[in-house]
Amino acid sequence: MKKVFKWIGIVVGSLVGLLLVAGAVLYLMGNSRMNKTYDFPPSNIAIPTDDASIEFGRHRVESLCAGCHGPDLSGIENWFSAGPLGTIDSANLTAGEGGVGQEFKSDEDYVRAIRHGIDPEGKPLFMPAVSSTSYLSDEDLGAIIAYVKTVPPVDHKTNGQNFTPLAKILYVLGVLPQMPVETVSHETHVTAPEVGVSVEYGDYLVNTNDCRICHGPEMNGGPFPDPTKTKISPNLTPGGELAFWTEEEFINTMRTGITPSGHELDPEFMPWKDYGKMYDDELKAIFLYLQSIPSQPQYTE
Ligand code: HEC
Ligand code: HEC
Repeated sequence: MKKVFKWIGIVVGSLVGLLLVAGAVLYLMGNSRMNKTYDFPPSNIAIPTDDASIEFGRHRVESLCAGCHGPDLSGIENWFSAGPLGTIDSANLTAGEGGVGQEFKSDEDYVRAIRHGIDPEGKPLFMPAVSSTSYLSDEDLGAIIAYVKTVPPVDHKTNGQNFTPLAKILYVLGVLPQMPVETVSHETHVTAPEVGVSVEYGDYLVNTNDCRICHGPEMNGGPFPDPTKTKISPNLTPGGELAFWTEEEFINTMRTGITPSGHELDPEFMPWKDYGKMYDDELKAIFLYLQSIPSQPQYTE
C-alpha cells in the first residue's frame, strides 16, 4: 500500500513539476516576444504647419484618439484592467511631465507608435488601435502629429503596460490577442482616396476608425475585442438593420446613440460619442460604403 502512495506521489509530483516547467517556458517565450525589438524604414512624413491641416488633425484626434487618451490627451490610468492579467495605461500624448512630447526625440517616433505599434526603442506597444491607425495616410498622420504637438502640456505620469506572468502565458497560447506590431502591414507610405462622399473614402474611414475591430473584418458583427467582456457587435452590412435606415437616420444614430427603432447604444461598447464628432460628409461616406458591401448574415459565436 505504502509503495502505491509513493508512486502516486512521484507521478503527481512529476506532473506538477512538468506544469511548472511548461508555465515557466511559456512565460519566458511571452516575455521575449513582448520585449522583442523591431525596426522599420523611416516614413519621413511631412508635418504640416498651416492652420487648415492642424484643424483637420484636431478633428481626427477628437474622433479617433481622445476616447482612449482622454479629452486633454493626458492619458488614462488603467485604460485596461483585468486583475489576473494586469493593467495598461494609455499614454500621455502632451509635452507635460510623463508625456510623449518630452520622451519622443523625433517625429518619426510618433510614426513608429501610430503606424507600426512600437515605442522609440522598437518594443511592441499594446495599443490595439494600431490595427486601424496603420491605415492612416501620410497626409492624415502628418496632420495628427502636427496637432498633437500643439496641445497644452499636462503633467501626468502613466505606466504603460504591466502584464502579469499569466497574461504572458495566455498571450503565447494565443488566448490573448497578438501585439499590433505582429499583425499590421507596415507600409512605409500610405495614400488615402480623395476626400469626399464616396464609397472609397467611406471604406478608408471605416478602416482608420476602428469599426472593423468590433464589427468584424467584413462588418457583419464580431466579438468584443476586450476578452473580459462578452458582447457581440451588430451586423452593419445590408444583411442587418441598416438596410432599412436612411442616410439621415444613420447620421442621427451616430450623433445621438439612438437607433431608428429606439434602441439606445451603450457608449461603453459603441463609442458613438466620439464618432458623433465626425463631419456630416464623413458619416455620409461611411453610410454609402456600408450600403455598398455584400450582404452577410449576423456573426454568431
Ligand atoms: C483603443 C484605444 C486607443 C486609441 C483609439 C488610440 N490609442 Fe494611443 N495608446 C493606447 C494605449 C493603451 C497606449 C499604451 C500602450 C502601451 O503602453 O503598450 C497608447 C500609446 C500611445 C502612444 C505612446 C507610445 C509610446 O511609445 O509610449 C502614442 C504616441 C499614441 N498612443 C498615440 C495615439 C494617437 C495619435 C491616436 C489617434 C490617432 C491613438 N493613440 C489612438 C490606446 C489607444
Ligand atoms: C469598441 C467596439 C466598437 C467600435 C470601435 C465600433 N462599434 Fe459600432 N457598435 C458596437 C456595439 C457593441 C454595438 C451595439 C451596442 C448596443 O447595442 O448597445 C454597436 C452598434 C453600432 C450601430 C447600431 C447598429 C444597429 O443595428 O443597431 C452602428 C450603426 C454602428 N455601431 C456603427 C459603427 C461604425 C460606423 C463604427 C466605426 C466608425 C463603429 N460602429 C465602431 C461596437 C463598436
